[in-house]
Amino acid sequence: MLLAVARALRPVARGLRQQVRPRASVAETESRFITGHPDCNVTPYIANLVGRDLHKKSDHPLGIIKDRIEAYFAGLEQTYDLFDGEDPIVTTTQCFDDLNIPPEHPGRSKSDTYYINDQQVLRTHTSAHQSQHLRAGHEAFLCTGDVYRRDEIDASHFPAFHQMEGVKLFSAEALNDKTDFSDREAWLASAECDSIGKDLKATLEGLIKHVFDDPDLQTRWRDDFFPFTEPSFELDVFYQDEWLEVLGCGVIHSDVLERCDLGSRRGWAFGLGLERLAMVLFAIPDIRLFWTDDKRFHKQFEAGVVKTFKPYSKFPPVFKDIAFWCPETYEENDFNELARSVCGELVERVENIDSFTNPKTSKTSNCYRVTYRSMDRSLTNDEINALQDALRDEAAATLGVELR
Ligand code: DAH
Repeated sequence: MLLAVARALRPVARGLRQQVRPRASVAETESRFITGHPDCNVTPYIANLVGRDLHKKSDHPLGIIKDRIEAYFAGLEQTYDLFDGEDPIVTTTQCFDDLNIPPEHPGRSKSDTYYINDQQVLRTHTSAHQSQHLRAGHEAFLCTGDVYRRDEIDASHFPAFHQMEGVKLFSAEALNDKTDFSDREAWLASAECDSIGKDLKATLEGLIKHVFDDPDLQTRWRDDFFPFTEPSFELDVFYQDEWLEVLGCGVIHSDVLERCDLGSRRGWAFGLGLERLAMVLFAIPDIRLFWTDDKRFHKQFEAGVVKTFKPYSKFPPVFKDIAFWCPETYEENDFNELARSVCGELVERVENIDSFTNPKTSKTSNCYRVTYRSMDRSLTNDEINALQDALRDEAAATLGVELR
């Protein structure tokens, strides 16, 4: 259904968005990302984000952070192989099954993930490449790339963002051969498992102090859960009076290694979001700025230097509300996706400000406040009214909602 939405919208939405920044040709990308398969929910808007390679630009904040992380690992004893050019189209096996993510996991649903067809997705995390590099014999590596998720819309969420994955295996000698790896409880209680966790924590504390350029940076560890690591942890840093979550990590789950024919090996893995770190370190207030072509943004950055971003202007927001009765099958992310398709980067936030269910009809009404704001220029009333009208029309035509 979304494909039809996307096609129908193209003339309106693309015409307006082109004022924000020039686009790559949809025609070139269409066949790979927009396949016509009934499960395909990639829109032209999303297809046009693929391949920008922001993480490979050494004078872009995302590239600067990536280079800084890679420089830290280059200074360690272990050699880390570097990857940053993997195809973002991966199989559901790579993205989920190889990583112990069960079929019913919500992260696999079409409301959360961009499907190319029933067996391929736009990767939702760089963990999707762990197993292929392990199978190819890499003992330690970093893998960076753009990842895609259907999500809410606000200053820190964008449907495309960037992650870096890190993996390190330990040699048989470093581990005690006597531990029975096939006994899960025994492994988890073993001194070897503990020492891998300690190596992981020391490595990542060092990393984050290097990235923040502060040897005294306060950090804290919290236990977490990921299907592909056991035990799993989350690292927070104390920065400008706030605890910030910066990465997830853990000791690689034995099932993951076994699927790579590495059942006799053990190791650790971590994953971090580059935007999150860059927004904090460069004081970048809105995630859409990473995607701008505006020179006033780009001229502020140079390779190898982390410095505070000076907002070149803050254009006024325009607020518009839209309310509708929802069908039973309604998914909030379908509306978010529609807002992206119609309004592109001009939509800063979509917020559900009122939701209620009529007890007689059991129907649910949602009212969304859409915040429009350009990073680069003032918006005119006429263009926002036209966008809001297009959004209303398309919601009614394609989401089965009844406008109020
Ligand atoms: N893939 C996880 C995510 O996107 C992040 C992550 C957590 C990666 C733990 C890892 C890990 O390698 O060990 O949220």
